Amino acid sequence: MPGQTPPASIPTPTAPPPDILRCAYMELVVTDLAASRNFYVDVLGLVVTEEDTEAVYLRSIEEFIHHNLVLRQGPVAAVAAFSYRVRSPQELDRAVAFYTELGCEVRRAPEGFTRGIGDSVRVVDPLGFPYEFFYDVEHVERLAWRYDLHTPGALVRLDHFNQVTPDVPRAVRFMEDLGFRVTEDIQDSEGTTYAAWLRRKPTVHDTAMTGGDGPRMHHVAFATHEKHNIIAICDKLGALRLSDRIERGPGRHGVSNAFYLYLRDPDGHRVEIYTQDYWTGDPDNPVVTWDVHDNQRRDWWGNPVVPSWYTEASPVLDLDGVPQPVVARTDTSEMAVTIGADGFSYTRPEDASRAQADDDVLPSWKQGEYKLGHQL
Ligand SMILES: [Fe+2]
Repeated sequence: MPGQTPPASIPTPTAPPPDILRCAYMELVVTDLAASRNFYVDVLGLVVTEEDTEAVYLRSIEEFIHHNLVLRQGPVAAVAAFSYRVRSPQELDRAVAFYTELGCEVRRAPEGFTRGIGDSVRVVDPLGFPYEFFYDVEHVERLAWRYDLHTPGALVRLDHFNQVTPDVPRAVRFMEDLGFRVTEDIQDSEGTTYAAWLRRKPTVHDTAMTGGDGPRMHHVAFATHEKHNIIAICDKLGALRLSDRIERGPGRHGVSNAFYLYLRDPDGHRVEIYTQDYWTGDPDNPVVTWDVHDNQRRDWWGNPVVPSWYTEASPVLDLDGVPQPVVARTDTSEMAVTIGADGFSYTRPEDASRAQADDDVLPSWKQGEYKLGHQL
């Protein structure tokens, strides 16, 4: 149930933020560990670094740190941590000071919260998300040269997280205080912001803020080397009669310019397969702002976005493992302003009058593209 709307602004701490390197791993709570292991290991090809009866620790082919994904058996499918690596062990002291000044719950585990990770700090941030910071980590074999192990759809890196939050500008201001930079966003002419992409590493993002009822986790994204690797994943899913795992795509994003595919895991957690965005490391990297009514912003080829992609997301947990209450978005929703009431057609501001005039907003042959059961 939506809770109370939090204060509109989050104060900027006087303490400096920790120097974050990159998104490093996500800890996912899953309700059937064997089913999830099958999906992430046998179908998607992530590499098992370590596992026991309670958890599986997975990494991508080019990774040298212990894991990029933890699957942990639990009662409610949710996210336990969005974990970031920082530049040095000293940055953990800064993380403690930064979040303590904001009045957030802060916990430190000198031996780590998960296997393979040393001294770590976990917080519930002012947006309600469980964030982790660490430097110390066990190094493992980087399998970049082990082509004997690569599969046609090999996942080579963790690329980014995507978070659902009701007030995107509020979230962006906070993330800028944490040291992130905006690379792209989606707005309208009234000044409503629907989503924003934020980076530490010099790619389009380490995380994105998507407007919606939150805090929730929209997706976690892994990179492949090439577009054809994504096509290979689709072919494999088809061959395994797992095409229902495909929620959206494959396609080319407008935002980020990346090639994409969205999958849903056995618990419904959304995973994006992503490749070939662009360098953003210059200090004057231009911010790209998209009009919400540009129907190429989410898919460069103009293919529609399935409604579930806008409405469904995973709960996030507090530091005791309790699902965080969800606050309703009050700003206009992107789905409401871009998908017609029939769940098919794309809407633009001028479409209402045009539709009345000729009832032909989209060509008839371009309507009805959603899978049965995915319509509103
Ligand atoms: Fe993404």
